[in-house]
Amino acid sequence: MRKPLIAGNWKMHFSVPEGLEYALQLRREVERYADTVDVVILPPALMLWEIANALRGCPIEVGAQNAAWEDQGPFTGEISPKMLAGWCHYLLIGHSERRQLFNETDEELNRKLQAALRHQLKVILAVGETLEEYEAGRTEEVITRQLSAAVYGVQLRLPTDLSIAYEPVWAIGTGKAATPGYANTTMGLIRLLLGKSFAGLASEMRILYGGSVTPANTRNLMEQPEIDGALVGGASLKSPDFTQIIQATAEVVQSQRV
Ligand code: PGA
Repeated sequence: MRKPLIAGNWKMHFSVPEGLEYALQLRREVERYADTVDVVILPPALMLWEIANALRGCPIEVGAQNAAWEDQGPFTGEISPKMLAGWCHYLLIGHSERRQLFNETDEELNRKLQAALRHQLKVILAVGETLEEYEAGRTEEVITRQLSAAVYGVQLRLPTDLSIAYEPVWAIGTGKAATPGYANTTMGLIRLLLGKSFAGLASEMRILYGGSVTPANTRNLMEQPEIDGALVGGASLKSPDFTQIIQATAEVVQSQRV
């Protein structure tokens, strides 16, 4: 059985002291679920090192929200996977805000993925269709294009090297999560696509749902067979909400074990 992964994407929130204080609070509240659920927080790059140190020895892992495709060089404002290697566990790439606001292309994401894997970072690759694409019935085409382009030529050692976050863009920050059934169907397609590139690993790779995940809808989402966790934005900024999402996920796992 795949162990669920709950990732908290802080986006551009919190000052450094606030982020640190919040990370320490989470440590007290969610450590107890670590046996059943993997938890990762994705703070802004500025506070990542400080938070990673504060969480050392604790099962909560940290990840970056973005990184460049080169190890070093004249890339003003960027951080590289090489800088994260050895102490930062995860890297999120391809979030729709990066794609839309910073014009990231599928080809760049392929280079980022290769660079991150070279430095043993576990990657969460976000994919998802916009409202316009959804309404035009183009979800399958869009997901197929985004995923195939990003993983082109990529080799994995372990199924945990790469997780996919399916985030319909129309569900992000809108309070309108996809229905569990719709998310599960699209994620089934994603697993089929993973099987083409990573035969033998795809059934063990994690596919997360993202887009308006809350304590209230977590259980229904996590009960779906293809949903192996969540990428949580807004609700990851409030400790009681994030903790309840992790707790609800742990409860679903426990009920499925019985
Ligand atoms: P949301 O964001 O949970 O606030 O919808 C999800 C995301 O952007 O990853």
